[in-house]
Amino acid sequence: NDHFQVTGQLQGKTVLITAGPTQERIDPVRYFTNHSSGKMGYALAEAALSQGANVILVSGPTALQPPHGVHVINVVSAKEMFDATMHHFDTANIVIKSAAVADYRPKETFDHKRKKQSGPWAIEMERTTDILKTMGEAKKQQILVGFAAESENVEQYALQKLHSKNLDLIVANNILQEGAGFKGDTNIITLLDKDGMKKEYPVLSKKEAATCIIADVISYIERQQH
Ligand code: CTP
Ligand code: CA
Repeated sequence: NDHFQVTGQLQGKTVLITAGPTQERIDPVRYFTNHSSGKMGYALAEAALSQGANVILVSGPTALQPPHGVHVINVVSAKEMFDATMHHFDTANIVIKSAAVADYRPKETFDHKRKKQSGPWAIEMERTTDILKTMGEAKKQQILVGFAAESENVEQYALQKLHSKNLDLIVANNILQEGAGFKGDTNIITLLDKDGMKKEYPVLSKKEAATCIIADVISYIERQQH
């Protein structure tokens, strides 16, 4: 609305957001995926939009309706997500990678449904490309925000990701904690930045968490300018 058009703190900025899981094909009926619902990423798209940003949302398969006014690119596999996000990387001012990208995909895929056999079935997996790490290496003006989904040593692992992927900020969450994680409507997040800032939040709805993350990204950008 007009109010946000005037006061939006991300007016004129392009925010590239990834959301949801990826699906890695085995054959025409089977795939590997994960529990990501996409809720966090879609809420981030809405929060960025309400600050006046131009929002590009690269989404894996979810059951969600994208917010009106967002440029949505639907993808299925980690490879498709890589291609779509890298395609828009140069125009982005801020990149927020909330997608749960598959780390591995089947090395071999089948054109026809694989019939069951009497013995076990071993599937060899190969690594996918780390999209965020690739962006960290190619980064120019972009502010890079990653997520860290951990089940132990949350802060330590999140900081390792922040530095090894050359990020500006990372949103850490413990997926085993009650009220946090992939599927629910709430999350418990800790924000860490490359200058040592740490901010812990209580249980928040994913919409509230998204508003906080966008506000923290804006304050980070303001701090960099001083
Ligand atoms: N990520 C990515 N491309 C991948 C894997 C992860 O861009 N192929 C991004 C995620 O979107 C997230 C961040 O990297 O923003 C961290 O993802 P996470 O799964 O927590 O960490 P990984 O680096 O994949 O390490 P691990 O799964 O072993 O903890
Ligand atoms: Ca991973």
